[in-house]
Amino acid sequence: MCGIVGYVGYREAYPILIKGLHRLEYRGYDSAGLALVNGAGELNVHKCRGKVADLERFTEAKDISGHIGIAHTRWATHGAPNDVNAHPHYSESGSIALIHNGIIENYSVLKDALIQNGYTFKSSTDTEVLVQLIEYVKATNHCSLFEAVQSALKQVVGAYAIAVVEKGNQDEIIAARKSSPMVIGIGEGEYFLASDATPIVEYTDRVVYVNDGEIAVINRNQPLKVVSFDNVESQIDIRKLEMSISQLEKGGYPHFMLKEIHEQPRTIVDCIRGRISPNGDDVVLSGVIANKDKFLQARRIIFVACGTSWHAALIGEHLIEDMCRIPVEVEYASEFRYRNPVIEPGDVVVAVSQSGETADTLAAVELARAQGAFIFGICNVVGSSIARATDSGAYIHVGPEIGVASTKAFTGQVTVMTMIALTLAKEKGTISSERFAEVARGLLELPAKLEKVLGLDEEIRDLSKIFTYARNFIYLGRGYNYPAALEGALKLKEISYIHAEGYPAAEMKHGPIALIDSEMPVVVIATPDNIYEKTVSNIQEIKARGGKIIAVVAEGDTVVRGIADYCIEVPVAVECLMPLVASVPLQLLAYYIAVNKGRDVDQPRNLAKSVTVE
Ligand code: G6P
Repeated sequence: MCGIVGYVGYREAYPILIKGLHRLEYRGYDSAGLALVNGAGELNVHKCRGKVADLERFTEAKDISGHIGIAHTRWATHGAPNDVNAHPHYSESGSIALIHNGIIENYSVLKDALIQNGYTFKSSTDTEVLVQLIEYVKATNHCSLFEAVQSALKQVVGAYAIAVVEKGNQDEIIAARKSSPMVIGIGEGEYFLASDATPIVEYTDRVVYVNDGEIAVINRNQPLKVVSFDNVESQIDIRKLEMSISQLEKGGYPHFMLKEIHEQPRTIVDCIRGRISPNGDDVVLSGVIANKDKFLQARRIIFVACGTSWHAALIGEHLIEDMCRIPVEVEYASEFRYRNPVIEPGDVVVAVSQSGETADTLAAVELARAQGAFIFGICNVVGSSIARATDSGAYIHVGPEIGVASTKAFTGQVTVMTMIALTLAKEKGTISSERFAEVARGLLELPAKLEKVLGLDEEIRDLSKIFTYARNFIYLGRGYNYPAALEGALKLKEISYIHAEGYPAAEMKHGPIALIDSEMPVVVIATPDNIYEKTVSNIQEIKARGGKIIAVVAEGDTVVRGIADYCIEVPVAVECLMPLVASVPLQLLAYYIAVNKGRDVDQPRNLAKSVTVE
């Protein structure tokens, strides 16, 4: 979703801002812009609809000089994606420019009041109201930009990360956040500002995460100052950034998504490193061990998540109920937060989020906290809002995920959930040592198995060509593989824009079977488990109605091979790990179909990587 970059220091700001915007492109956006204060103190704002490359062309003959600037990629909420609605927005007099991530909920009330005071508006955004309000407060109170921002924000209801610069001031950016992420990079005589660390990593590894309700005064001549809206100065907590540039580049792959699919053998190694003993007889997740009583005494565990993370949570439910005999519920965070859920002290809420910034998941965490639950996080982005809002957690450690469609984060999440289930089951005594070792060793062997699956890349690419022009797809799976079917369908719709539905295979006859004809490809995960025969019957039902069956089967399977139109053979793992194995060929299938269709795989239309508005 929207991205923020800022720079103040001794270098030319423009190249840093543009490079930073490129780094943020993965978040999803539809327009871009920047504001610079040049050596004469003039404030220049350039913005347009389209990609960052369009903005670069747009600024070709313009004044892009200056050592201070702010830049933005916008994902439209209020107002269409066009040049006028793009950020930065500037005030009535043209002396203040502002960029904003988030939503100002009471913007219409504020707008009416400003109109009555003679202000006019060019755009249909909520953001323009904020910049006008800051100018109004500054003019009426004769105060500094910092004081005006602080005072204006007290009148604002909503979620935001903002950055503001002012004509005539070549030294200072004012930034603030509430429910929308913001990080400041500290260099020598220079500062960097961004909505996540990706634009900062090549300049410095010293970062400060701005907290909710804080305003930062980023002045190149002074130490960083952070204060609350009520003017209480905050302690500056400088963290070391654990991220490398190579993780943010494609490394020879045509798309980040393909790179990330192929990274999975390594990311699983990173995820389990130091957590599973070499012989598989022990699993140590410190965040779980330190809070084991909370988990073991829990009346129930509630997973809250969105999108792919929600699918991973469905597997987590299966794992924990199966191994630990603790009741688990899985909730869409967006529904949970608004439906007055029953949460009691003693409940454990597990928030699952790759980005750690999803607004609905964060709100669900806050709601659960207010009602006394213990909150555990499963996040990828270190230092993200959800990671910091939870009582404890386990990072998945799969490295930055740039492709909008989540791949390696999904397998990392399921891997962490498997380790959580093993840890709790051992503590609770609900798993035999044989089964424990079988699953733990299965995790250790998983990278090699995924490597084998990735060897099918070419075969799946060829297979994908048959389905480039399909208009619909159905994905079926049962048991542990049902969420993998949902995830396979989600991958396909996200990046190819082909309509796809995931279903539990047996449920198909209660409706979706009506859709089956010779035009309907049906992907079925039919790997060995205790209901394999039943899945085979479901495949027969599709076959009888002329559906085209693409089956994911175990190596050496002869039964399904005799029925299905196409088979993708994968190595066998323990039943509970099969969704990890089976989801990888489905990621590849979606990827290649999307490539065949010429889609923008890494930045599919309308989607955002980090959904920071509800
Ligand atoms: C967006 C992304 C999805 C992701 C979902 C949840 O919709 O496009 O890939 O699964 O948000 O994101 P999270 O960061 O909370 O896992």
